[in-house]
Amino acid sequence: MPNITLDGNHFNAPDGWTILETARFLGIEIPTLCYDEGLSSWGGCRLCIVEIGEGEKAKIVTSCTYPVEEGLIIRTATKRVVESRKMIIELLIAQCPTSKTLQDLASKFGVQKVRFEPKWEDCIYCGLCVRMCSEQMMAGAIGFAFRGDKLKITTPFDEKSEICRRCGGCMYICPACSQRCPGSDETKVLCGSCYNSLQPSCLDIYDNYMCYEGLAGDCGTCLREKPEQKNIDTEKNKVSEKGKGGKGVSIKNK
Ligand code: SF4
Ligand code: SF4
Ligand code: FES
Repeated sequence: MPNITLDGNHFNAPDGWTILETARFLGIEIPTLCYDEGLSSWGGCRLCIVEIGEGEKAKIVTSCTYPVEEGLIIRTATKRVVESRKMIIELLIAQCPTSKTLQDLASKFGVQKVRFEPKWEDCIYCGLCVRMCSEQMMAGAIGFAFRGDKLKITTPFDEKSEICRRCGGCMYICPACSQRCPGSDETKVLCGSCYNSLQPSCLDIYDNYMCYEGLAGDCGTCLREKPEQKNIDTEKNKVSEKGKGGKGVSIKNK
């Protein structure tokens, strides 16, 4: 049982567990998209990235495929991870703006813009449907075909399948077509209708999210612990001190 450190928690993880399995066991949330407990891990979407190691040797890995090993130090919400994750969501939304799953992820993780050209496709190539069809429905009726711009999910030779049972498993699990977002259109790729503006400001002070309550810094813990940071005034955050001991201190997103 390798001894690991996950977000500061020391833990003996069972052999063979991945970082994601360990984090979930400990109640630490890591977002996923192409992962499903009932299917094999594929590591395609990269949404579940975490940072392992320390200093110059720190690197980003996908938690759904990376097995725990002795002495592994893992951080799930560093600035590098959070910002990379936001960019991954941007890329995915640009691929398929009509996916409610993706729009909800954008809201949850505070993605406020999409810098990539929208493609308005119906697939993000997560491969869930393919694994669902072969591993749960035991049909193997669909798979990836072609490459590059022509990449798509289809039946062999793109023909009507004799082995597809029309069970709907592939559609049920698809993050692009199971739920449609009605809020995105040509003028507004990022729907934002259910946008949650409560983004904690911790990352400007620590290299980790500390405020898991989504209080946008209102709890003041960050200022009490690092008082020299009181005058933060970044593009995103404005800090003003209205009281003492952290009470009344407010950090608001513009
Ligand atoms: S509907 Fe057909 S392609 Fe889809 S999961 Fe079922 S058997 Fe596979
Ligand atoms: S059709 Fe849906 S489930 Fe299949 S790869 Fe595309 S986005 Fe994923
Ligand atoms: S959930 Fe791990 S790479 Fe997609």
